[in-house]
Amino acid sequence: HSVAVLGAPFSRGQKRGGVEHGPKVIRDAGLIERLSGLDYSVHDFGDLNFHYLEKDEPYMDVKFPRTVGAANKMMCGAVSRAVGAGHTLVMLGGDHSLAIGSVAGHAQQCPDLCLIWVDAHADINTPMSSPSGNLHGQPVAFMLKELQEKMPAIPGFSWMKPFLSSRDLVYIGLRDVDPGEHHILKDLGIQYFTMRDIDRLGIQRVMEVTLDHLLSRKQRPIHLSFDVDAFDPSLAPATGTPVNGGLTYREGIYITEEIHNTGLLSVMDLVEVNPMLGASPEAVEATASLAVDVIASCLGQTREGARVSIDEIP
Ligand code: ARG
Ligand code: MN
Ligand code: MN
Ligand code: MN
Repeated sequence: HSVAVLGAPFSRGQKRGGVEHGPKVIRDAGLIERLSGLDYSVHDFGDLNFHYLEKDEPYMDVKFPRTVGAANKMMCGAVSRAVGAGHTLVMLGGDHSLAIGSVAGHAQQCPDLCLIWVDAHADINTPMSSPSGNLHGQPVAFMLKELQEKMPAIPGFSWMKPFLSSRDLVYIGLRDVDPGEHHILKDLGIQYFTMRDIDRLGIQRVMEVTLDHLLSRKQRPIHLSFDVDAFDPSLAPATGTPVNGGLTYREGIYITEEIHNTGLLSVMDLVEVNPMLGASPEAVEATASLAVDVIASCLGQTREGARVSIDEIP
């Protein structure tokens, strides 16, 4: 099968510069070579060319609404085309607001998809509940049908309507949830696993319940939206909103191995790598190289070693 890689150099979903360079540092860390080594035909679609509008006044408290809306409209079309052409797609952010278009485009081709959101944050604020006005803290609220009445019409987003049910979403890694977000999670009965839940249950049980929740009724395509800040900041320091007490390397890779083993991964996002926020070049390289490990593991790189036929062994 074939994997397509799509870069999304975009940062207007939050206020810190640098996250638009995420695709470049993840590619520089050897992504394409690693995926080619996994026996895929790899298609690098390059980077989307986003336009930052000059006049884009906040709406309510929401920052850069038209710029983020237009970027996601473009993202939606690109993801829809790639999935329609039969590729498994890897989207490289950019900030997490881009998941709006990524999941929306995926849903155009696969209306029955389910969503696994690995993140320190729930990113489910509505424009009213958001403490920051940053759209990277709100993407899930744009997707959910159950939040339709709570969402005002934001300029830039008239091209989309909510498409996901709250029961088709599971969070893993949460540890910084705003009060309004916590209310929504409880109110809608969304399945989520905080870092405390991982401490209690172990990552093996967390993945068992996650996949059972999403796939037991029927097998369907998986969208994985992976925010690098899900990892502990000691492993992924180059990111905009780090929170202590995150995933270990082994927990993160166990999550992605289990997702690969379903055979159902269809699109993944790897977002929020910001090379301008690393304290040193080494910190940036560590974060980017971790991102490559996560992506490769999602696509079948194993810790066990690959099965090859006897005549391939030198
Ligand atoms: N909850 C905070 C907010 O809504 C932080 C969100 C961080 N999101 C992210 N994708 N890193 O502003
Ligand atoms: Mn986050
Ligand atoms: Mn996020
Ligand atoms: Mn495979």
